[in-house]
Amino acid sequence: MILVTGGAGFIGANFILDWLNQSGEALINLDKLTYAGNRANLASLEGDERHQFVQGDIGDTELLRQLLQDYQPRAVVNFAAESHVDRSILGPAEFIETNVLGSFHLLEAVRSYWNGLNGANKTAFRFLHVSTDEVYGSLGASDPAFSETTAYAPNSPYSASKAASDHLVRAYHHTYGLPVLTTNCSNNYGPYQFPEKLIPLVIHNALAGKPLPIYGDGSNVRDWLYVSDHCAAIRAVLERGKTGETYNIGGCNEKTNLQVVKTICTLLDEMSTGSPVVPHEQLITFVADRPGHDQRYAIDAGKIERELGWSPRETFESGMRKTVAWYLDNQHWVANVQSGDYRQWMETNYNERAMA
Ligand code: NAD
Ligand code: DAU
Repeated sequence: MILVTGGAGFIGANFILDWLNQSGEALINLDKLTYAGNRANLASLEGDERHQFVQGDIGDTELLRQLLQDYQPRAVVNFAAESHVDRSILGPAEFIETNVLGSFHLLEAVRSYWNGLNGANKTAFRFLHVSTDEVYGSLGASDPAFSETTAYAPNSPYSASKAASDHLVRAYHHTYGLPVLTTNCSNNYGPYQFPEKLIPLVIHNALAGKPLPIYGDGSNVRDWLYVSDHCAAIRAVLERGKTGETYNIGGCNEKTNLQVVKTICTLLDEMSTGSPVVPHEQLITFVADRPGHDQRYAIDAGKIERELGWSPRETFESGMRKTVAWYLDNQHWVANVQSGDYRQWMETNYNERAMA
């Protein structure tokens, strides 16, 4: 039995579906169900007793104490976070609440639980913290990719809050001996990604004939990884990673935002029937830049490849084709997750960005 937090979100849901397929080991899924968490992501698990869903907050110490005591998990995998950079710029408080204080409360509850374990259960226990490459800051065009020894230099309230949680995780290992593992991953894409993030937003807008908003000049670079490759990397770190270590995970797929958006347009030209505006590239619209926009991220995934034998299976081309196909087949999912909060967010973020 393992405890997963944030398992109703994009990566957490993909992880749970993969986990139950690959290992079949039961899990508890603790998720607050913020705007980003959707039970529909796990609809295929209705009635599956290996998945126990609990709605709750990682900052709720008493709930955590109870869950850990009742279920006695052998590991905790922490996905729960506020994850959208633009939201952290417009409203950072939630990010401090969940990513910093929530992680702290979770660590305290786990420390107390782990202290009460004995023998093999204590030795085998693991706490895996899922983090981001954004903690390393921004790279220049010819800088080497981020490695596990790159100094932290977070630039947004989101990345600063994730960096703070990474530091707490590190400190709980150093000070209390808690058997922790941290992963720092590059940009994910794939099924169930909330349509506020670049790739699902562009697919969704393109299908509706709406503008495809590109911040600044579109030259910012991200290193894209298909989500199931991230899930496989997390499983590898959980099973074979060395406690106290951090592992960088990335796809070795550096693309400018303009390249990403053009790739989506080309795929939709080929795969979509009935789009109101074709070719889809006509919809590309440059809008005001993200304040403090990091120019380039790139991950050196050499350590996890060498030490744990992990490497990505999907190329950018194969992963993007699968992703576009999934969104074309699951437009009802996109429609269902567009709550009032979503519509309000789209207005707030994009109306404020004067068209460039
Ligand atoms: P997401 O926003 O899609 O999902 C986050 C989930 O956490 C949601 O289900 C939400 O309801 C839940 N949650 C939020 N606050 C909570 C709280 N206080 N208690 C319990 N649950 C809470 O995020 P994602 O993209 O799936 O990211 C998951 C994790 O992976 C995050 O920690 C993120 O920083 C990290 N990460 C994401 C990416 C990426 O490209 N998306 C890349 C690297 C790392
Ligand atoms: O690098 C890992 C990170 O990747 C994760 O830690 C974050 O949780 C995740 O959201 C993601 O952060 P980004 O800011 O890189 O992702 P986003 O999809 O928001 O933006 C990707 C790039 O596209 C970024 O350079 C901003 C740009 N962009 C984004 C949106 C939403 C646009 O040009 N237009 C848009 O409308």
